[in-house]
Amino acid sequence: MSKNWNAAYENDDIPWDKGVAAPPLAEFLETHSIAGRVLVPGCGLGHDVRLLASQGASALGLDIAPSAVRKAQTIPAVADEGFVAGDFLDLSTEWEGQFDWVVEHTCLCALELDQREDYAASVAKALKPGGNYLAVFYREVADYKGDGPPHPILSEAIDALFGAHFERVESFVPSKSYPSRPHGCEEVVWFRKR
Ligand SMILES: C[S@@+](CC[C@H](N)C(=O)[O-])C[C@H]1O[C@@H](n2cnc3c(N)ncnc32)[C@H](O)[C@@H]1O
Repeated sequence: MSKNWNAAYENDDIPWDKGVAAPPLAEFLETHSIAGRVLVPGCGLGHDVRLLASQGASALGLDIAPSAVRKAQTIPAVADEGFVAGDFLDLSTEWEGQFDWVVEHTCLCALELDQREDYAASVAKALKPGGNYLAVFYREVADYKGDGPPHPILSEAIDALFGAHFERVESFVPSKSYPSRPHGCEEVVWFRKR
């Protein structure tokens, strides 16, 4: 059964929220720029969205949990950012081909394994031709026994999932992570839509 994300935010039962943007995303932005229209699926309280907006992007956070979106909207805006409630796997046609970047952090790992193909299709659908997909993937989850979320994804599975629509531009194991995430458990991958 799928997790009730809305109830988690309503009850403040959100251990994944660290109160700041993902350190691997901040590390990527130290040497690269993410500009234009950016979609952040599964944005939660929007820390990554605000980081991207603070660097000049026009950033939209999308989350299936209306309570997450309401809370994200109460945090003072830093620049050009917005938040909307919706299911990334059922992307509105108004967003088809609209985004220069999709930025992923802990959305894919939150989905059931049989939802991954739909997720990859939504990433491709949201992007303009030649658009970019930057993902902070969870490669290893401590004591994982198939009982996620979170569900990790290995490098080979990443390429199998996205290879049809995307080519890898760059990837690295981040040196900066939340303290609770051991070095090596995440991989940052930058893909470009073919
Ligand atoms: C583990 S949380 C991570 C939230 C945020 N990225 C963070 O790091 O704090 C996963 C998020 O994905 C959202 N989510 C799950 N399924 C989704 C879907 N189909 N479409 C959009 N958001 C979804 C959840 O509501 C939740 O906010």
